[in-house]
Amino acid sequence: MEHTTAIFPTVPTSAQHKWWQHGIIYQVYPRSFQDSNNDGVGDLKGIVTRLDYLQWLGIDCLWLSPVFASPMADFGYDISDYRGIHPLFGNMDDFDELLNEVHRRGMKLLLDLVPNHTSDQHPWFLESRSSRDNPKRDWYIWHDGKEDRSVPNNWLSVFGGPAWEWDVHTGQYYYHAFLKEQPDLNWRHPEVQRAMLDVMRFWLEKGVDGFRVDVMWHMIKDSQLRDNPPAPNTAGNTANPLYDDFLPVYSTDQPEVHQIVRMMRELTDAFDDRVLIGEIYLPIPKLVTYYGEGNSGAHLPFNFQLLTLPWNAREIAGAIDAYEGALPAESWPNWVLGNHDKPRIASRVGLSQARIAAMLLLTLRGTPTIYYGDEIGMTDVPIPVDEMVDPQGLHMPDLNISRDPSRTPMQWGPGINAGFSARKPWLRLPYNAARVNVEKQKGDLHSMLSFYRRLIDIRRRSAALSVGSYSPVYSDGQLISYLRQEHEETFLIILNLSHRPAYFRTPSAAYKGIIKLSTEEERIGMHVAGVITLAGDEGIIVQIDDQELTYPHHEG
Ligand code: GLC
Repeated sequence: MEHTTAIFPTVPTSAQHKWWQHGIIYQVYPRSFQDSNNDGVGDLKGIVTRLDYLQWLGIDCLWLSPVFASPMADFGYDISDYRGIHPLFGNMDDFDELLNEVHRRGMKLLLDLVPNHTSDQHPWFLESRSSRDNPKRDWYIWHDGKEDRSVPNNWLSVFGGPAWEWDVHTGQYYYHAFLKEQPDLNWRHPEVQRAMLDVMRFWLEKGVDGFRVDVMWHMIKDSQLRDNPPAPNTAGNTANPLYDDFLPVYSTDQPEVHQIVRMMRELTDAFDDRVLIGEIYLPIPKLVTYYGEGNSGAHLPFNFQLLTLPWNAREIAGAIDAYEGALPAESWPNWVLGNHDKPRIASRVGLSQARIAAMLLLTLRGTPTIYYGDEIGMTDVPIPVDEMVDPQGLHMPDLNISRDPSRTPMQWGPGINAGFSARKPWLRLPYNAARVNVEKQKGDLHSMLSFYRRLIDIRRRSAALSVGSYSPVYSDGQLISYLRQEHEETFLIILNLSHRPAYFRTPSAAYKGIIKLSTEEERIGMHVAGVITLAGDEGIIVQIDDQELTYPHHEG
């Protein structure tokens, strides 16, 4: 067994931490949370009626996926008015009420900012495409075709096909990293920068607590529009090129993007206690550059390791340490298990391991983000082909990458449509919704919901678990273990990522204590020392009672 020696850095106390450091974020997908007007789509008033639930669960902050005016080509990620609420979700009064009700409960509210692209129906784009000499022409990325009229370069849309769309009227192509209904803004243009910062200011002045910034790493593209190189394993030889067949080294993650992020951060910091989060899918060394020089970038560049890595103890332990090791000084970590773009955790790893995943999410160092419904173990709902609505699924029908299955209505109770709506919901519910729902699980001490609530509770009560230091202890093909410490409090977390029993040999006699939480409730309160046995799919949180582990520097 290889044991890593724990290091014990001095960490500041929780009083020195911001709400977004010790708090828990919960992503609400508004279409699917709660319908209040029975049109089959969730809305703002609906969310208000569920705030008590979120408070009961122990959530500190809600992040809402877009609720703005939109033709809904990409379910709200195609915005036609950044300051307007889509009538499907309600109106500005409803929004104000929601913000008020969230704040009244001592919670925070984050909005989704989609600055990389607008809807093709946004007045800015309508102007831009109206003529080549329109003042807003350069607000978007227009380019002539090559001599033979073909696309300017080989960049591909994330949703399939070329990323360039021909505009007959003005005889040029425009660039769209996603749908052709989502033209990319030209962030090199100072007026674009000003216009979007004004949008941010509008919401910050209203009192929202910050933003999750959509596709932050896409915002600036190579000024020379150079071709992306083929990915090494395809060498560009596929008959039907897909996004991943090329390395998007010129279309994303350009050095100048950090100046834009810094501008956004400066504006955010001009208001008290707000947070800037970036959606960024990049390898760790690149990801951490989004904290910016001297932490002048995003407060939290979303860390998607747990979403993207195979569920394997060795790989995940390696990624945790690589991430911890790569974090710039003074920057704050964060972890995400699920979102509206990826399969749900319970579908990826199974229900038993979903509990281990929850324990990992809520005991690692850094801000956790919970995706709605994961706390009751919602699984991806199979959506029949003729009911598919997600453009990613519809554009690439053979790849089984529709995002609909992880966006289905929240399962609240055993009643009609699981209490989500009295009318047929926009996406169907699973057959087992009458069994798997909040109401049922609230009354069951052994449910996923009860487990989540206990985990959240123990995290909230403990400075060690919410803001303490992290030190890896041991990992192998089955186990991941680490210590969380703050002052006199030390927790040892041991997670079995396999279905078979595992044996954790404590590195020294100092590793003994009492089980505070386990996936096997019967073990709570037991003393452990020496070789600690874990059942398959078991995770435990042990409160260490030996002072030597707490104050190792005091020896000799
Ligand atoms: C982000 C969103 C995703 C959307 C895409 C384009 O990745 O999370 O849902 O489709 O951006 O806006």
